[in-house]
Amino acid sequence: MEDQQQTNQTKSMDDIMALCKRRGFIYQASEIYGGINGFWDYGPLGAQLKKNLRDAWWQDVVMNPCVGKPGPDGEHVEIVPVDTCIIQNPKVWEASGHVGGFNDPMVDDKETKQRFRADHLFGLFIYEAEGGKADPYRDVHTRAAEVLSFLPVITMVGGSVGEASDVFAKEQKKMLKAAKLKLAEEVREGEREFVVLEDKNGSRFFGIIAEVGVNRLRDHHEEIPSPFSHKAGSLTAPRDFNLMFKTFVGATSAQTDENAAYLRPETAQGIFINFKNVVDTTRVSVPFGIAQTGKAFRNEVTPRNFTFRSREFEQMEIEFFCHADDAKTWFTFWRDWRYQWWQEIGLAGDNLILRNHDSDELAHYAKEGEGTSDIEYRFPFTAPGYGELEGIAHRGNFDLSQHKEHSGAKMEYFDTALQAKLQAEGLPKEEINQRSKYLPHCIEPSAGLDRGVLAIICEAYTPDDSRASKVFMKFHPRIAPIKAAVFPLVNKDGMPEKAAELHRELVKKFGHLGAIETDAKQSIGKRYARMDEAGCPICFTIDGDTLSDGTVTVRDRDTAEQKRIPMTEASGYLANVLGM
Ligand code: GAP
Repeated sequence: MEDQQQTNQTKSMDDIMALCKRRGFIYQASEIYGGINGFWDYGPLGAQLKKNLRDAWWQDVVMNPCVGKPGPDGEHVEIVPVDTCIIQNPKVWEASGHVGGFNDPMVDDKETKQRFRADHLFGLFIYEAEGGKADPYRDVHTRAAEVLSFLPVITMVGGSVGEASDVFAKEQKKMLKAAKLKLAEEVREGEREFVVLEDKNGSRFFGIIAEVGVNRLRDHHEEIPSPFSHKAGSLTAPRDFNLMFKTFVGATSAQTDENAAYLRPETAQGIFINFKNVVDTTRVSVPFGIAQTGKAFRNEVTPRNFTFRSREFEQMEIEFFCHADDAKTWFTFWRDWRYQWWQEIGLAGDNLILRNHDSDELAHYAKEGEGTSDIEYRFPFTAPGYGELEGIAHRGNFDLSQHKEHSGAKMEYFDTALQAKLQAEGLPKEEINQRSKYLPHCIEPSAGLDRGVLAIICEAYTPDDSRASKVFMKFHPRIAPIKAAVFPLVNKDGMPEKAAELHRELVKKFGHLGAIETDAKQSIGKRYARMDEAGCPICFTIDGDTLSDGTVTVRDRDTAEQKRIPMTEASGYLANVLGM
């Protein structure tokens, strides 16, 4: 566990991105035109990796919900899928609160013309070291409140404290020069780092990196140094910036509010507006869920960290409808099961955590005191902190009641099971009818597919100097884009024919799960190295002995060990590796 933690803190995002490009996982969108900020394309390996993750979610959520685990009521968990439009009537987004409230606080640097999210501004805060002897760690905690009432001496843009610390470490010289300070000492204790700074009079200060905060920026934007020029006086106060992409529908030359529409910022609303359709046209009954995967679009102020914060991305969302009285229990059920799911597809270890939101972080739809939790992953760029992979929210009946109010449509559900129960209790008919008709509450596990892929790539990335490739991708076999490779040792002497025979057999049996590669060019070492970087769990090699005794070499990606098995057992061997 400790190793894993260490590894993810020291993995280089530049190296991971270089491998993604080199091996065809992820490319910059519109690269030949200089790219477009916040958009990414998936290459052959990335497209298959992404499909395998989406398929695993679909299989375990829609086809076999919770992999057969019964719900807290002891019953089979019921989930049905939908596939709804990216563009809907714009009234959907007025009702959902996105037109009015889906904003990020944006700050401009008037001098450099650069822009950033106010809540992504971090600063170096300093305070005097008493006699140079105080324990900085103890002081950071005891003095946190005091320190955070100061103004920062320099600032940097980052998505997390970890990222801001990285920026600081890289740009330290320049930043300290701007703040008229010099580094006196770097204190290291295990993973913890701390700086002691000195001004021109020789006075010593402790420095900590902390979030500047939207309110402090609003009140002091003229005194806070810009993260770009390091001078104060050029930052604007934060102002709201709506994240939705606007477009215009129809063959009309006038682009007015009349024909304006939005690209969906989440897939969830397509589910809520079809809630009644699903209830009326299928045999589902509360509690049940509706699931969907698909693209969502957000005009992020500062897209960053590879695919982590993109402007076009894919979500995998479940809206699970239940009676208000059962919502807390279902919330806990979904939170725990989703956490377990991410572990089972390869994000085991200390890099994955479950975090309950503080009440000041709750989204506008979330029920106060009843939970929103995030499943977070320690990405190399957030380490030692974490970044959100999936949010699990108790949305109450906010969305159904908003759509009911804005559309005038009837959204209530009539609960015949509850009606029968109340009848058996002998309640008056009027009370039974009134209590049996309600707007269900909703638990929403909402995951990012691209973030999931990125976490899986970061987790799988395993430097290993003993190999020709110097690195291998340790994907869980279920998610690996290439499931197996078949190589003739040399491209002659009957070996290519034998390899083609085994390749055909494996494609027929496993091709629906991912690629089965074959390749006769280059040395066998180079071919293994390529498969290591692609994260292919198993390679089968056909050599001279195959022709005489019918055995093949099996090479295991994780151990690089090789052994011989009969070629007739290759397919069963692979099935076992893939957990079939
Ligand atoms: N329906 C609720 C909802 O959309 P969210 O927390 O805004 O909630 C859910 O988004 C998930 O979508 C996040 O946990 C994250 O994985 C992913 N996501 C959100 N914004 C993203 C972005 N700009 N780029 C990539 N993934 C994003």
